Amino acid sequence: MWVICAKLFTFWYYINMKKRLLSGIQPSGTIHIGNYFGAIKQFVDLQDTYESFIFIADLHAITTIQNKDILSKNILNVAMDYLACGLDPKKVCLFKQSDIPEVAELAWYFNCITTMPYLERATAYKDANMKAKEVNVGLFDYPILMAADILIHDADVVPVGSDQKQHVEYARDTAIKFNNAFGQTFKLPEVLILKEVAIVPGIDGRKMSKSYGNTIPLFGTDDQIRKTVMSIVTDSKKPSEPKDPETCNIFAIHKLFLKNEDLENLRKRYTNGGLGYKESKDMLYEEIVSFIKPMREKREYYEKNIEEVKKILNSGGERARNNIQNKMKIIRDNVGVNI
Ligand code: TRP
Repeated sequence: MWVICAKLFTFWYYINMKKRLLSGIQPSGTIHIGNYFGAIKQFVDLQDTYESFIFIADLHAITTIQNKDILSKNILNVAMDYLACGLDPKKVCLFKQSDIPEVAELAWYFNCITTMPYLERATAYKDANMKAKEVNVGLFDYPILMAADILIHDADVVPVGSDQKQHVEYARDTAIKFNNAFGQTFKLPEVLILKEVAIVPGIDGRKMSKSYGNTIPLFGTDDQIRKTVMSIVTDSKKPSEPKDPETCNIFAIHKLFLKNEDLENLRKRYTNGGLGYKESKDMLYEEIVSFIKPMREKREYYEKNIEEVKKILNSGGERARNNIQNKMKIIRDNVGVNI
């Protein structure tokens, strides 16, 4: 009887145990609707399925931001952005990377088993080098710090954009190398590529991206949003002429905000003629503003209650740091520095 109960309990525990998710976000300036639909929304959707740890990668940011005012402002801004977009601190442990100094210690152990040519193969490093920038050692070592982030938490899954896939592979390689050198210590994390649910087009029709300067800011003022919407590039058809919705940059963005029936009605108005681009832009402006209204209000709340944001980050940091103490003991034991 007891044996059966124990077995049932183990089974129940097993199916109820959530897998652990971990990801880092770079604190790098204002976010736009492309970031939201391309990544943040999916991130927020995952928080119910996994035991989630999300951190602001401030140590990584120092490889490019070397100004204390900008860095600390960016850290708080990105925290407020994600909280406003729906990241729930009751479900997710949200913290600053720098609140776990052990990550830098672990990166050092990893550095000692990593070779230079291996890091020279990283695409991010090759890109930076090609741009003839002086690459700092921190940037060169970026994948190793990231491996430490991931492995210190025994993460099962790491959701990232496809540009970060190689970095998660570096983390897996590093786990294997460490296990071979010092004995079984780390499990191998799986990458979870955030599929771009929609390729979010920018105001010029190319993919929305800060580097193209074609973004619509997510938390912009009404004026900023109106200005960018009004500058969406179109052809010069008159309002009365029928238009092709599938080649229209305004329509492409409508698709993110309108549901089936409303979208179909708009599609008809395009093909029938009689809808001017100006009117379509006015409609889009209203859609965007009403969509982001609740998020904007939440963000304004956090801006006024910045101490609450700091508290969320601090308690997240404490929880995350407590969580990794056992792991660090095992790591130090296996390396041989614990005597
Ligand atoms: N490199 C990631 C980015 O630029 C941020 C990051 C740092 C990260 N450490 C991580 C992501 C660990 C996932 C896991 O987006």
